[in-house]
Amino acid sequence: MPITICMINQKGGCGKSSTCFHLAGAMVEAGKRVLLMDLDPQGSLSQGFFGSTAVENVEAINTTARLFHDNAFFTTVDQLVVGTRFENISMVIANQHLARFNTPEPEETGMLQFAVREFLREAIEFDIVLIDCPPNLYRCSWTALVAADFVVIPVPPEDFGTQGLRAVHQTIEQARKLNPNLRRLGHLITRSDRRLLIHRAYEQRVREIYRGNVLETVVPEASAFKVSLAGRSPVEFDMPGSLAAKLTRQLSREILDRINEKTVSLKVA
Ligand SMILES: Nc1ncnc2c1ncn2[C@@H]1O[C@H](COP(=O)(O)OP(=O)(O)OP(=O)(O)O)[C@@H](O)[C@H]1O
Ligand SMILES: [Mg+2]
Repeated sequence: MPITICMINQKGGCGKSSTCFHLAGAMVEAGKRVLLMDLDPQGSLSQGFFGSTAVENVEAINTTARLFHDNAFFTTVDQLVVGTRFENISMVIANQHLARFNTPEPEETGMLQFAVREFLREAIEFDIVLIDCPPNLYRCSWTALVAADFVVIPVPPEDFGTQGLRAVHQTIEQARKLNPNLRRLGHLITRSDRRLLIHRAYEQRVREIYRGNVLETVVPEASAFKVSLAGRSPVEFDMPGSLAAKLTRQLSREILDRINEKTVSLKVA
């Protein structure tokens, strides 16, 4: 079975989709077969690869919306997974059809809470699944947490959103009741401009509060991420020599190492 990582934070624009998009390229470079699962009705991750018009025209039955519907458990991997123009990056697309399912009280949806998890159990041809979530803690994010092995929390280094992060951690704890295997890979400082004192101060504060639960690698605010996204390519393939690509490879290594450590310690225990 693949290892599933979800990116979650109720803060909008913190870099969840961008991180999934570029990390996929770095993970392929590290020899992994990656499945990207878009669980955001905005469909940003899907649009990153296929463009907005193409994504908006995909029928609900061919998107992740299918996994929120009564027929969810009859859906096979072949029916939803599509290739991208990059070898070893495949996707399950999301678009506006998912919006009506993203309701606030996910625990009330019974067995359907497990549909994405069951679907991914069959995704055996992949090593890593990255799930992109919307900027809220409703049903899409909840379903991702129930399906995931690991969670990464992207945090931009300003607007110290302690309230927001507290709710994220509470939701993770709740999801662990249904999915005891869910572990935190850590907070990921994103969109950082280290020239700004406020960003450096915020980063330090996050590290003081969450200690080992913060990834060492910091994702900088860098135009290379935007430019390659606009060219529908992870930065790894578009600008492999850029600092942005180098740091994304470093992030990928750190994440894969952390997964290894946590998996090994689980086996030993
Ligand atoms: N490290 C970065 N450097 C430069 N631009 C970035 C970076 N990360 C994200 N962006 C840009 O900021 C915008 C928001 O990023 P992104 O869509 O990844 O955030 P998000 O958390 O997925 O947002 P939402 O909560 O709406 O889903 C995008 O235009 C993206 O290209
Ligand atoms: Mg997004």
